[in-house]
Amino acid sequence: MRGEAVLLIIGEQHALQAIPESDLPIQWEPLPALETPEQALANSEQLLHDFAKDNVLCRGRVVKGDIEQAMSEAAYVAEDTYRTSYVEHAYIEPEAGYAEVFVENGRERLRIFACTQTPVMDKEEVARVLGLPTDAVHIVPSDIGGGFGGKLDVSLQPLLAVAAWTLKRPVRTIYTRSESMVSTTKRHPSEIRARYACDAKGKLTALDFHGDFNTGAYASWGSTVANRVPVHSTGPYFVPHLRALTRAVYTNNAVAGAFRGFGVPQAHIVTEALIDELAAKTGTDRLSFRLNNAIQAGQPTATGQVLAASVGMRQCLEALQPAWHEAQAAANHFNQHNTSTLRRGVGVACMWYGIGNTVIANPSTMTGALRANGRLFLYNGAQEIGQGTVTVMPQIFADAVGLPLSLVDQVMGDTDLTEDAGKSSASRQTFVSGNAAKFAGEDVRRQLLQLLQLSEPASLSLQGTLLIGKQGELTRTIDLQTLPADPRGDVAVGRGYFNPPTVPLDADGQGVPYATYGFAAQFAEIEVDTQLGTIRVLHIHAAHDVGRAINPTQVEGQIHGGVAQGLGMALMEEYISGRTDNLHDYLIPTAGDIPPITVHLIEDPEPLGPYGAKGVGEPALIATAPAILNALHHATGVRVRTIPATPDRVRAAIMQHAVTASHHDGA
Ligand code: MOS
Repeated sequence: MRGEAVLLIIGEQHALQAIPESDLPIQWEPLPALETPEQALANSEQLLHDFAKDNVLCRGRVVKGDIEQAMSEAAYVAEDTYRTSYVEHAYIEPEAGYAEVFVENGRERLRIFACTQTPVMDKEEVARVLGLPTDAVHIVPSDIGGGFGGKLDVSLQPLLAVAAWTLKRPVRTIYTRSESMVSTTKRHPSEIRARYACDAKGKLTALDFHGDFNTGAYASWGSTVANRVPVHSTGPYFVPHLRALTRAVYTNNAVAGAFRGFGVPQAHIVTEALIDELAAKTGTDRLSFRLNNAIQAGQPTATGQVLAASVGMRQCLEALQPAWHEAQAAANHFNQHNTSTLRRGVGVACMWYGIGNTVIANPSTMTGALRANGRLFLYNGAQEIGQGTVTVMPQIFADAVGLPLSLVDQVMGDTDLTEDAGKSSASRQTFVSGNAAKFAGEDVRRQLLQLLQLSEPASLSLQGTLLIGKQGELTRTIDLQTLPADPRGDVAVGRGYFNPPTVPLDADGQGVPYATYGFAAQFAEIEVDTQLGTIRVLHIHAAHDVGRAINPTQVEGQIHGGVAQGLGMALMEEYISGRTDNLHDYLIPTAGDIPPITVHLIEDPEPLGPYGAKGVGEPALIATAPAILNALHHATGVRVRTIPATPDRVRAAIMQHAVTASHHDGA
């Protein structure tokens, strides 16, 4: 693949910069390209189909009911095929880091300081690359300027490791933006064909879904995508009959990997468009149609899982309803009274998302302590990637101990100092590591009450190093300095572990893939210039069931960021290797593209979550693109089926639509 590292040159910076590229000891034998990027884009459907004959990395399958019979009995069926593009994560901070060999207790070890979503996986992979025992590697994550799945694979870590270990000298590297873009993973391009059916009353009955995902030259997280998509294919609706099949297909293109939502955003673009079509066929308001089909507690999902609680889909839709009706009326009014080329439209979409890994073990361990100096200390392995674990974990831990957040100090992600909290991925940290932090805090609290010879309900406070416990009329104090402390200065150490309960999927994909799901509905108000094909998003309304917002400001921040990425995915982001591997040619939304965002936080508590919380990282993005694309259809009557809906594609679709319409008029 273009962008693959084939040669590592290590040296002083000035020496490296003095080497002309022509001096590099590489012999290239150019082979005829299979296709130019333009052809590949035009032919990607055929390409994927051909490659799929013998280049399948992984297949996904979820099947239930009798799809053929349900389709034949359906009152209405909507069918369509969509293609989506490679999308670049475009985190602000490119890959950067250093490695150094150090000696500890007479033994050589390797330390890597770099940005990552997965310190423990980095440790294991680097050790494997060097053929070292795992504990010879020490990962110290840097503060991270965005990951979104792009820092879920090692990138520069193995290169740094080989260089430092070979030379026994510290080495550093920083990827340029283009190096970052060509060499790291992308969102999977997809080609998805689906048929969605409902009965005469507008109740969804069946979905027939087939998705191919271009996974590029390496596996990365392609199997995760192939497995996650069929589970989510129906969207957050009760659908009795389902056949959802997926393939992740190897090609010689850029590597597709993890990207906020693991294929689910691509799938929702298709199914949410079909839901709109079915609403139209049944003559139902688009939001009401969704309300009428929204999954509720007690109903089985696509995999036969019956969700007992925290199914806030209906509440999300109901929260949007008043503004939805107002916005529709406003758009209609604008269109009736505006004689320019501008047309306004509104579109709504729902989404659901399983929190954590699909079925496979997903544990987190957290350790926290009270120190002799009168401070709490959290050994926080849940790496911050800009989403807020640096705040949320101490909040949960402090509440569980029953002492103020201002007392918490922490270390984060350092693999020598923290236990394995798993990946900062799959929207899992607040739910999974949040529980581990809560249990660690409760463990500390139990020990402190025991030291004070008190029991629940009691209140704790600290004055300097004086621990004070009150239970009813009883007050007891201990000076922490008088207690035996471990070498770190901890006088009471608590440990918490959580692994969400799941049940493996059978051959038909039936089982319990996730312990809990996030739900959301978003609607978009947009303005289309029918002459230019440009789209301005005027307002996004987002209602999210997060179980419990541990930190409402951060939840809002996640939703704002997700909306921005969803907007980019819908309208502008398209990575073409060799053409858009820089931030001049690859367009991402700027502040000027982001509309006002109205957030509704729905808190339908998850009994398994810490204080009721679920995740919001990926749910924040998934509904945005389909809502915008549905608004485009509302404004203009056209559907753009190759995403992103760039101005050229929108304009072409509008012209095609006009031609078709005039033919109809002529007839
Ligand atoms: Mo994310 S795609 O789970 O890093």
